[in-house]
Amino acid sequence: MPTNTYKIFNKDCVGLSGVAPQSIDALVTDPPYGIGFQAHEWDKSLPNKQIWSDCLRVMKPGAFGLVFSAVRLMHRLMVDLEDNGFIIKDVLFWVYLNGMPKSRNVGLNIDKKLGVDSKIVGKYTYMQGYKKGGADSYTNPQQKNKYKPSSSLGKKYDGAGLGIKPAYEPIILIQKPLEKGLNVAENVIKHGTGALNLEETRIPFEDGEGEVGHNPHPKGRVAANIIRTETMDDGYDKFFTVPKVRQHADDYNIHPTLKPVSLMQHLVKLLTFEQQTVLDPFAGSGSTGVAALNLQRNFTGFELSPDYAKIAQKRLKAVQLP
Ligand SMILES: C[S@@+](CC[C@H](N)C(=O)[O-])C[C@H]1O[C@@H](n2cnc3c(N)ncnc32)[C@H](O)[C@@H]1O
Repeated sequence: MPTNTYKIFNKDCVGLSGVAPQSIDALVTDPPYGIGFQAHEWDKSLPNKQIWSDCLRVMKPGAFGLVFSAVRLMHRLMVDLEDNGFIIKDVLFWVYLNGMPKSRNVGLNIDKKLGVDSKIVGKYTYMQGYKKGGADSYTNPQQKNKYKPSSSLGKKYDGAGLGIKPAYEPIILIQKPLEKGLNVAENVIKHGTGALNLEETRIPFEDGEGEVGHNPHPKGRVAANIIRTETMDDGYDKFFTVPKVRQHADDYNIHPTLKPVSLMQHLVKLLTFEQQTVLDPFAGSGSTGVAALNLQRNFTGFELSPDYAKIAQKRLKAVQLP
């Protein structure tokens, strides 16, 4: 079996120095969302736009990219990508059930503003985690007071809030234009890029499920632009399913926005064929790289933080150990 190569540059990705023009087959990246996630400095603003023209330069004509984003700022990111020469092809939704609404009870805020004490109506167990009591829950639950508004205006607005439950993360699908004058087949023949790998990413039919269409494909359906974290009993389960990963899932991996390797594998597979090279300029702890190496693709990553770059090195090395 051929050995795949990887490189992690522990430096600012802007400029993509060390990466040759037209050497990259796909871009798969989870950049800063610009929303200051958990007050992390690196997430305070969207990436410097220049990185997207750098990416365009190092990618082969027709190469695809997938760029994670946040609902609030994906429009800006899409404009940045388009302004720097990419074609916007689609937006994938990674849909989950366990998103926490960032909200508050406005009725209680009104009580406070009016100088009225809200009523304590009981206690609840606060747990920052996913499945209560399940393997994913955190260990130190705290007892907190449960309040209800006391003022009449507070009661009127009891439960009113500021946001609905977030239930998806958008992932923008982009493409570098084909080489001028070439059609898709000519571009694929010359560069190996310009087509999605739909065969390797088919979603198998479920047991007992009737096959679809007059000429059903033995491997299942073509992957959709929705990816879900778990199957749902709503009769609408024809999607690729990837559970979220708990932070600190590996004791040494402290990255706060770790993406599941199975999700990254699905994305890498969709954009590439074996032995091609994937770029992630915002590599974090290296999940894209692990996915690429697991799939016999090569990987080039950049990560600004020495701590995260070290974790990425360790994870990538582990994939290649016999
Ligand atoms: C959202 S995280 C990626 C997490 C990754 N998907 C994982 O699973 O570990 C984005 C990363 O980009 C890094 N970063 C931010 N600006 C950068 C820059 N200009 N050059 C290189 N890395 C940068 C941050 O340090 C952070 O680790």
